[in-house]
Amino acid sequence: MKIIKTKNYSELSIKTAEIVIGQIHSNPNSTLVLPTGNTPLGMFSQLSIAFKKNIVSFNNCFLIELDDYWQIPMNDNRNLYNWLDKSFIQNVNFKLENITRFNTSAINSDNECHRVEKNIKKMGGIDLVVFGVGPNGHLGFNEPGSKLNSKTRIIDLSPESITSSANYWGSEENVPQQGITLGLSSLLAAKKIILLVNGKHKAQIYKQAIHGPITPLIPASYLQQHKHLTVIVDQDAYGE
Ligand code: PGA
Repeated sequence: MKIIKTKNYSELSIKTAEIVIGQIHSNPNSTLVLPTGNTPLGMFSQLSIAFKKNIVSFNNCFLIELDDYWQIPMNDNRNLYNWLDKSFIQNVNFKLENITRFNTSAINSDNECHRVEKNIKKMGGIDLVVFGVGPNGHLGFNEPGSKLNSKTRIIDLSPESITSSANYWGSEENVPQQGITLGLSSLLAAKKIILLVNGKHKAQIYKQAIHGPITPLIPASYLQQHKHLTVIVDQDAYGE
């Protein structure tokens, strides 16, 4: 595991974008999984700037959605894909046919999960995953208790995830009870993984996930076992 400590969030975002760009330069057909949430916003803006300056092109990359809310209409603005679209995809040049998006209103959830797993296999697996981490240690919607061999699936959101999504949905009562998420087995099989951790509110989960015991109670702790993990953490989160 490589740990890169940055002074602040802006440096974390620049560093992360540099690594993503390096990945695409070395393999323009890279299959990427990118997170939603507040953590990646700085990276997205750095990548969008680099795209505008012709430093990087996403034209031949593949993108697979990490997670989303389940049984939410595809055109609902609060659908995580639509959020990612507005925050990043629209600013760059992915080909739409190269993007695997969850059908969040699919009638048969098993078929939908198999379809996405099959797509990942067809692409030869994932080249790079960038994760944020929830304060409860979830990765995507692999909530505490998720097993290392878990597949892409529908999952009940943890009370912590419901609380932390309350602002996004207006109130806790409005937050969907379930999500759909790529499983840990596909995610941890990625060739490279970056974990981003920033802010004082993540200091505790940073310590537990990276320096604590590996446990299903903190899915992010499984990352310690990955051969090509880079953790990028800012001073507020590493706490010195
Ligand atoms: P955040 O969310 O980036 O908004 O902190 C991370 C997560 O819950 O996975």
